[in-house]
Amino acid sequence: MPLDLLQSLDPAWSAGDGTSADPALADHVAELSALDESLGRFYAAAVTALATANTPAELRERQLALLGRERGVVTHALAEMPALSVDDRKRRGKGLNLVKRWLGEAEERRRRALEAAAESADAIDVTVPGLRPWVGRPHVLAQVRDELLDLFHGLGFSVYTSREVESDDYNFGKLNFGPDHPARDAHDTYFVGADVVLRTHTSPGWVRAMEERKPPLRLVFPGRVFRAEQVDASHMDQFHQIDGLYVDRDVSMAHLKATLNTFARSIFGPKTRTRLIPIYFPFVEPGCQLDASCIVCDGAGTVATAGGTKRCSVCSGGGWIELLGAGMVHPNVFRAVGYDPEQVTGFAFGMGLERIAMVRHGIPEIRLFLENDTRFLEQF
Ligand code: DAH
Repeated sequence: MPLDLLQSLDPAWSAGDGTSADPALADHVAELSALDESLGRFYAAAVTALATANTPAELRERQLALLGRERGVVTHALAEMPALSVDDRKRRGKGLNLVKRWLGEAEERRRRALEAAAESADAIDVTVPGLRPWVGRPHVLAQVRDELLDLFHGLGFSVYTSREVESDDYNFGKLNFGPDHPARDAHDTYFVGADVVLRTHTSPGWVRAMEERKPPLRLVFPGRVFRAEQVDASHMDQFHQIDGLYVDRDVSMAHLKATLNTFARSIFGPKTRTRLIPIYFPFVEPGCQLDASCIVCDGAGTVATAGGTKRCSVCSGGGWIELLGAGMVHPNVFRAVGYDPEQVTGFAFGMGLERIAMVRHGIPEIRLFLENDTRFLEQF
């Protein structure tokens, strides 16, 4: 009995259709079956094994199992020929030679197809739309801060960076807050130790700068401040301020006014009107609050709607927006740092950055600044 080649073929390889490796498969099978029924079936399975090899390595493995010099079933079958009867040898020999030739052709066709697929997988499709790289940007508060620092730089102010953890004395005492003065109540303070606080404002920076340097001074103090606030849409327990300080001989309220007007018009537009209202801060005398005409209603207090008018939500109908605190440096503050209040005078101001950014960009909710939601941050 001649070798049954189909027996030695892995059955898992012959599931599927072989015509992609041999388009004339049906004719070839018929021709072989006419010579030897089992050869026809073997050939159909063997071509399918080649046609369904998915990688060059798999194809090589199957090719060796079929036609390899050592392990190939076809090779074994040919080697067995001399032992067959003359009649068998004739038909079997013819069939096996055809099998060998056609399988060789099928293997080559499949190999080419795998190579072509690999090439087109590696190819670059220049028509595919590009991926835009994600580009970051400064945080909206950093933008406002930098714009303000730029403005004050133009007015001759340099930046002084001061600490976030302060002693009670620098945050309050040297700024003329008496030990039990009610003005402390406005600053809900985080205490880190008995006399150590998270600074509640950037004003302690003036004291540090004045203790280190001699007048004249023209400085701005940007930074983060902390208050034990109940958090809501307009209050956070940390936010940012910029203080300014100008100390020299003969600095007057007129200098302060000119500086604040320049500031207000630079950030809210050249038509902005301003007013100063007297207000108490322990570290200045006189102290004042700077208001600017509302940038949304231009001071009217109302805005037009489809059906008439409604109260302006930015200034709550008052027509004015509180921008900052300011004043002339209190003589006690000069004394605390060793300056002679008979020799020098100075003005100071302090503003909240979140507030300015909210008014300017119409941001309704202070917590957005800290959430780091890129959908918010990308808008600025
Ligand atoms: N430090 C004050 C606060 O946070 C704000 C302030 C008021 C700063 C008046 C000043 C100033 O420099 O002159 O409430």
